[in-house]
Amino acid sequence: PRIGIIVVAAGSGTRLGAGAPKGFVGIDGHTILRHALERVFDAPAAQVVVVAPPGREGDALSEALEAAGDRRDLVTVVPGGATRQASVQAGLSALWADVEIVLVHDAARALTPPEVFARVIEAIESGRAAAIPVLPVVDTIKRVDGAEIVGGVDRSELSAAQTPQGFQREVLDAAYRDATADFTDDAALVADAGHPVAAVPGHPLAFKITTADDLDRARSVVADRPI
Ligand code: CTP
Ligand code: MG
Repeated sequence: PRIGIIVVAAGSGTRLGAGAPKGFVGIDGHTILRHALERVFDAPAAQVVVVAPPGREGDALSEALEAAGDRRDLVTVVPGGATRQASVQAGLSALWADVEIVLVHDAARALTPPEVFARVIEAIESGRAAAIPVLPVVDTIKRVDGAEIVGGVDRSELSAAQTPQGFQREVLDAAYRDATADFTDDAALVADAGHPVAAVPGHPLAFKITTADDLDRARSVVADRPI
């Protein structure tokens, strides 16, 4: 089945506060978006849709073509929307008709290793409707009300969700078509539509670059192993 990968990079990067949309912030000599795309193009994609901040489509295309090498025919760039969900929707609308499996990936998870893509793709190719990478939660988690601890949470039943999140294309299309609320990730939207979601092992390097501390962490990782 033909795989389409939607890379959402249309956010503004408010919490990073680097004065540019997050995808265009440098890690080393290369941007967050470029690092994400280098790893995306290691996957067996038939189409890669980059969802760019409106007005920055040209810059996103340049980054994508650099990462694509001789697979430049796979690249599509579209402008994103005001929310992540609207940006994914824009990416879905740009998928070619023959794409059957869709992966949705945050550009901000720029250092996600190819093995995570492979695990998600394997789950969907084996017939699962949806599959997402997860990592066990390591911290002890408390329920808090204001300044009071009001209870504990059993950590063993919690996991942190990462991307890429994979779906049968028809499942994700239908879930987006019928969505009435805002969801925090695509798996929540698909689960709300009644589909089971499989968990595959995530990876510490699939962390999301959200704050300046996260960018520092990405910089030290990349210093050890550049593109
Ligand atoms: N994203 C998007 N369109 C939006 C909002 C987010 O494509 N309207 C993308 C981001 O570019 C990012 C991913 O969704 O790759 C995860 O979002 P987040 O980490 O929150 O990025 P930003 O929204 O850019 O950051 P912030 O919330 O700090 O502004
Ligand atoms: Mg955001």
